[in-house]
Amino acid sequence: MKYLVVLAVFALAFAAEEKKKEDGGKTFKRLIPADVLRDFPGLCFASTRCATVEPGNPWDLAPFCGRSTCVISEDEPPRLLELVEDCGPLPLANPKCKLDTEKTNKTAPFPGCCPIFTCEDGAKLEYPELPTPPPESETKEEEKKP
Ligand SMILES: *[C@@H]1O[C@H](CO)[C@@H](O)[C@H](O)[C@H]1NC(C)=O
Repeated sequence: MKYLVVLAVFALAFAAEEKKKEDGGKTFKRLIPADVLRDFPGLCFASTRCATVEPGNPWDLAPFCGRSTCVISEDEPPRLLELVEDCGPLPLANPKCKLDTEKTNKTAPFPGCCPIFTCEDGAKLEYPELPTPPPESETKEEEKKP
């Protein structure tokens, strides 16, 4: 029985991973346990708003550029999770690409606040590898390096 719960949690995590790739690195999603106030069980606490949010509803993370959604996990017992969306990692520095300060609107609601870059003809932005915690086997690979 415990096995099923673990599998459900993993399925949820992988679902989030898949979504990230579809978005082509434009927005970045991750699931974290929701903040819950003792007096408001069953609701997510939105610290940037200082308010409670019902499951299924989003809230803006201003002054940060991002959005969170209160979600209920599909495992047993269900837990409250916060689906956090943000602009993802910044692209690697490229002298041919510049932050477009005219198109980027930092005060717009997510995802409008994400930085917009413009590149010279032929130049393409590259994004760093997503910082996911490496599985144990990869950690050992790291140790082999001089
Ligand atoms: C930036 O976004 C805000 C909120 O949507 C809007 O009020 C403002 O006019 C925008 N500014 C520019 C320069 O587009």
